[in-house]
Amino acid sequence: MTHKKTKIYMGCMLALVSVFGLYNFTIYADDDAQYKTPLSEKALHGQALWQQNNCFSCHQLYGLGGYLGPDLTNVFSAENKGPEYIKAFLNSGVKTMPKFRFSEAEKEALTTFLKEVDASGYYPNYNATITPDGWVTIEYKNEKSQE
Ligand code: HEC
Repeated sequence: MTHKKTKIYMGCMLALVSVFGLYNFTIYADDDAQYKTPLSEKALHGQALWQQNNCFSCHQLYGLGGYLGPDLTNVFSAENKGPEYIKAFLNSGVKTMPKFRFSEAEKEALTTFLKEVDASGYYPNYNATITPDGWVTIEYKNEKSQE
């Protein structure tokens, strides 16, 4: 490669890297992308129980986890389900789900964890609109808790 060609080549590379950098900045530095739902003290206790008792080995949250049992992301707000429904499952044991011996406080903590996970979004989330310029707007549950 001649010296001049190398310069042009380097110039093009620099331009590409800059455009890529700018592109990433506009996507990831977007304030709208900051949807936070911090867990309460009680929910954190529930999360610890969730981990210690390997609930995730059979259940998924947002599609991640084992597949022996159903996804529990929105079990709290699902029609005909909710806190009492969740608690009923915990100590009874059904099919392959083991029987746990949680105290009332532990059941409450796990239910609170599932409630706050539920409040953070939808899974699966099919409520998306694609604008003509190619952006996708997804419906978030926690959008209003931003202020
Ligand atoms: C060995 C696998 C396994 C483990 C571990 C397990 N589950 Fe389950 N769970 C299941 C299965 C299978 C079902 C579905 C039972 C049915 O529909 O009859 C279920 C159902 C449920 C349901 C009802 C879901 C619905 O939408 O109907 C809840 C709530 C639940 N489990 C919570 C938990 C929690 C919390 C833990 C941890 C403390 C846990 N499970 C641990 C297998 C498991």
